[in-house]
Amino acid sequence: MTPAAPGRDPVRAAFAPDGVGRTVRLRGWVQKTRSSGGILFLVMRDRTGSIQVTGRRDRLGDAGFDAAEHVQVEGVVEVEGTVADDARSPGGREVRAAAIRVMDAGLPFPIFQEQTEEFRLDKRHLVIRSTEHVATFRIKAELLRALREFLATEQVLETTPPILTGNPAEGGAEAFSIDYFGRPGYLSQSAQLYLEALIAPHERVYALTPSFRAEKSRTPRHLTEYQHLEVELAWCDLTELMEFIERMIAFVCGALAERCASDLKVLGRPPEELAAIRAPFPRLRYAEAIDRLRAKGLPLTWGSDLATAEERALTLEERTPIFVTYFPRELKAFYMRRAPDDPRTVEAADLLAPEGYGEIVGASVRETDPTALVERLTAMGAPLADYEWYLDLRRHGNVPHAGFGLGVERLLRWMLRREHIRETTPFPRTPSRHTP
Ligand code: 4AD
Ligand code: MG
Repeated sequence: MTPAAPGRDPVRAAFAPDGVGRTVRLRGWVQKTRSSGGILFLVMRDRTGSIQVTGRRDRLGDAGFDAAEHVQVEGVVEVEGTVADDARSPGGREVRAAAIRVMDAGLPFPIFQEQTEEFRLDKRHLVIRSTEHVATFRIKAELLRALREFLATEQVLETTPPILTGNPAEGGAEAFSIDYFGRPGYLSQSAQLYLEALIAPHERVYALTPSFRAEKSRTPRHLTEYQHLEVELAWCDLTELMEFIERMIAFVCGALAERCASDLKVLGRPPEELAAIRAPFPRLRYAEAIDRLRAKGLPLTWGSDLATAEERALTLEERTPIFVTYFPRELKAFYMRRAPDDPRTVEAADLLAPEGYGEIVGASVRETDPTALVERLTAMGAPLADYEWYLDLRRHGNVPHAGFGLGVERLLRWMLRREHIRETTPFPRTPSRHTP
């Protein structure tokens, strides 16, 4: 933990076992304020927590008391006082102020619980101070840290592929186009093709980058910009890849249950439930998934896509994530390898979160045969010249390899059981908004 600025204490210090009786100097934002009978009650917050502060007119003096009384919610104060036990205040302690210095009285704070979602999204820059958002983004930081920790243990090298690209990685229709000095360019949908280039020198690589999808899907699980963790492993087959993914998911679930217990509780997710997520996860072939769904009465045939409703029906009763494997080739991306024993399918695995939260990881073994790649790119109508550099990789040190992409916000949405994916990112980008 970083120490407080010299001479100042974090709010947490007031809750230390030997805190009672100590003199503290706190600085932070006012969450609540009221006064009655010459006593002012403030609840103030800093990054370490919140605490009640009481100030008496006879101690603060008239000028000091009046100034403090006019501080608005989200105004900023500096408080000097003594920590005391107080059974009535949240957390059981309070600070009895000797002085309250108003640093910014603030204007009346415009956010209330009962406002419309649209209004709250317009005021997102202020809404993100809520207790739920604070807990969420602390957990997200810990999730990113745990993912990196896992990858370091597995000796996967972090790399930095570009976001500005000359060819779309996942199909042109859903790429954001940009004008790159008069030439067509795209915002990255996936770093995969670059990671495939980086395995020749490094064998095991990953990148954590923003990915962009120009999908007009207004669903609770689509963002137009999201954090994408992508891993590419040389010499890896589908079984090893699924084992890697389930190890990683189980590790981060365990790490968060242990390190973020109180923030998880704020969000109503019992940490024990995450701690119970253990590898291996069930595996289900696409063909079996179709049978299962037909038995539930869904009108599907071999070749039907598994969209939101189907993924939901498959996982509603599950308690751990499940893999769906060996999809029909037509449903999947051009770079996936055909299954040798069933060439109608590709060696792909989607990891679906339980309880209907849907796909969180897309994984596959990569096609190494340049002829098969050209055939698929041509069928897609992709300009071959743009993929020339990628095809070149198959001419110089072509090795079997596999990889996956994980949507960090998708994973977090399930882990925190949020209704909408936008609650897992501070400034969500959706088809209808890219501001604030
Ligand atoms: O399944 P996708 O499209 O796969 C790829 O992009 C591969 N090239 C990844 C790779 O193998 N390196 O995307 C991967 C994951 C999905 O499983 C999902 O979790 C997330 O990215 N994702 C989204 N998350 C939020 N909003 C969207 N619009 C998303 N689209 C995909
Ligand atoms: Mg996918």
